[in-house]
Amino acid sequence: MKQLVVYSSKGGNTRKLAEAAFSRLSGEKEISPVAGAPDPGDYDVVVVAFWYQGGQPDSDSQQYLKKCKGVRKLFLLATHGAAKDSDISRLGMNKARELASGANIVGTFSCQGEVPQNVLDAAANKDPQPPWLKDAATATGHPDREDFYELSLALEKAGVVEVPKPGEKRMFS
Ligand SMILES: Cc1cc2nc3c(=O)[nH]c(=O)nc-3n(C[C@H](O)[C@H](O)[C@H](O)COP(=O)(O)O)c2cc1C
Repeated sequence: MKQLVVYSSKGGNTRKLAEAAFSRLSGEKEISPVAGAPDPGDYDVVVVAFWYQGGQPDSDSQQYLKKCKGVRKLFLLATHGAAKDSDISRLGMNKARELASGANIVGTFSCQGEVPQNVLDAAANKDPQPPWLKDAATATGHPDREDFYELSLALEKAGVVEVPKPGEKRMFS
């Protein structure tokens, strides 16, 4: 079974989660930044990790998600400044689902990712301010230990990784 993790990450938040997901896959696996990523059609399991820009997956990930329409086992992973489980986070994930429509999406996970101060300052100076800005202060320190743990559970629930046997560690190596 061939497995692929593809990620887009400007500041490193999404890359960390993508690497954590990768570390829990067993068997034949590859990880790649979205630029130059292989054709997803050549893999049995694909994890696409993206960040939110303008309320949607970042533009490189949008292009890649469109190529994922035939994937038999697709897991979507994202980070955003908006609060976890907020309407903003749901709308962005829905957009990703739409872009990859036709794929068998077995699971999704998203959490906050710390927003750099210069990005916060630029957003604060916009008129109107972007709706995600009000939550962005609470993104500080994310992704955190709990986010990594919840990602692990989501990957298990989706059947992308195996549930650890009694006595085995669940956390990422
Ligand atoms: C240019 C820019 C635009 C952003 N737009 C949004 C947005 O629309 N919604 C949101 O929730 N977060 C937004 N964010 C926050 C990022 O999605 C968040 O910090 C994410 O974790 C960045 O991931 P990365 O560190 O992997 O690049 C934006 C950040 C940047 C730099």
